[in-house]
Amino acid sequence: MLATAKPLSFDVQRIREDFPILHQQVRGKPLSYLDNAATAQKPKAVIEAMDRYYRETNANIHRGVHRLSELSTRDYENARIKIQRWLNAADPSEIIFVRGATEAINLVASSWGRKNLNAGDEVLITEMEHHSNIVPWQLICQERGAHLKVIPFDDRGELDLAAYQKLLGPKTRLVSVVHVSNTLGTVNPVKQIIELAHAAKVPVLLDGAQAVPHLRPDVRALGADFYVFSGHKLFGPTGIGALYGRKELLEQLPPYQGGGDMIRSVSFEKTVYNSLPHRLEAGTPNIAGTIGLGAAIDYLGSIDFEAAAAWEKELLDYGTEVLSGIGGLKIIGTAREKVSVLSFTLEGIHPHDIGTILDQHGVAIRTGHHCTEPIMAHYGIPATARASLAFYNTKEEIDRLAKAIQSVQEMFG
Ligand code: ALA
Repeated sequence: MLATAKPLSFDVQRIREDFPILHQQVRGKPLSYLDNAATAQKPKAVIEAMDRYYRETNANIHRGVHRLSELSTRDYENARIKIQRWLNAADPSEIIFVRGATEAINLVASSWGRKNLNAGDEVLITEMEHHSNIVPWQLICQERGAHLKVIPFDDRGELDLAAYQKLLGPKTRLVSVVHVSNTLGTVNPVKQIIELAHAAKVPVLLDGAQAVPHLRPDVRALGADFYVFSGHKLFGPTGIGALYGRKELLEQLPPYQGGGDMIRSVSFEKTVYNSLPHRLEAGTPNIAGTIGLGAAIDYLGSIDFEAAAAWEKELLDYGTEVLSGIGGLKIIGTAREKVSVLSFTLEGIHPHDIGTILDQHGVAIRTGHHCTEPIMAHYGIPATARASLAFYNTKEEIDRLAKAIQSVQEMFG
């Protein structure tokens, strides 16, 4: 999370009580779950909300006249309102439920892209994108004869804004940028990026998958045209996420998928589509997941999010200091604005070996390219080991990580 000047009032041990999964032994050691960028753990409130839905109100939505359908429809639509408020969107119909950030970007690329991209047009992305914000654009650019342009970053992991301004030109139709890098932890200057794009009359999509667990985006203050995120990184369930789109833009989008709920009437001659948001939500959705995501947002609203942010910053500083003191360890991603993601390499040892040995110590991290192969290419490395911290992590867990890394080094001589 971003630094705040507030004094700490964050009781991490109290917070940990809300997350049942954290209190277990793995391979005979206390679990140190440091893989939060891959997926975050779920508070009891989320687990119980989904359990309650299946036990008490399971029914399809927007379809039944019966009581259970009425209740599940209410809870599904309430979750939409919770997300609207969390993001400070203007209207609930600007929130479209999808499977996750990946599906949201595919929806925009496919639906907006097919309507707006033509031969010779350009889509601007960055060198630090997740594959989910590269491949959908490659697919649609290929189909439409458009081109993908890439904003580079420097070795700290900060975007080259001068290069961005040069790339932003009369052919640019969309800028699609990651808000926070899942691999480097960099928090990009998205407000500035949006202002520059808007001055050129170009809309901007922000991939917020890795931002939302650390900071609370205000889509209207940022001026984002599209904002996407996944529920499972926001302490909610898997298989659910949201696309925010400014109403004016969403209204112009042709349907993404055809099926139930996205229609007003169907005949063999003509189909009339439903209004937003349902027009972009074909088929029975992930109702339980949506309700779980709503519960995650309620949970985040119930804790002191600013104090949690300050705690994460303290963990990041502590982790950076501890890891920097280990000989042969190199931190990848040292941007001045970054969240609690610590990617690193160890001289002479492959990240997969690091991850496997750490697991023997009960320490869960991710190793690999983190679905960001261009970042690996930038540094000329095949992979990193990545510890990613959430507000329920502790300094003791970072100490266990450091100790386990030292035993990896001892094993490899
Ligand atoms: N994109 C997720 C990660 O960073 C899965 O691990």
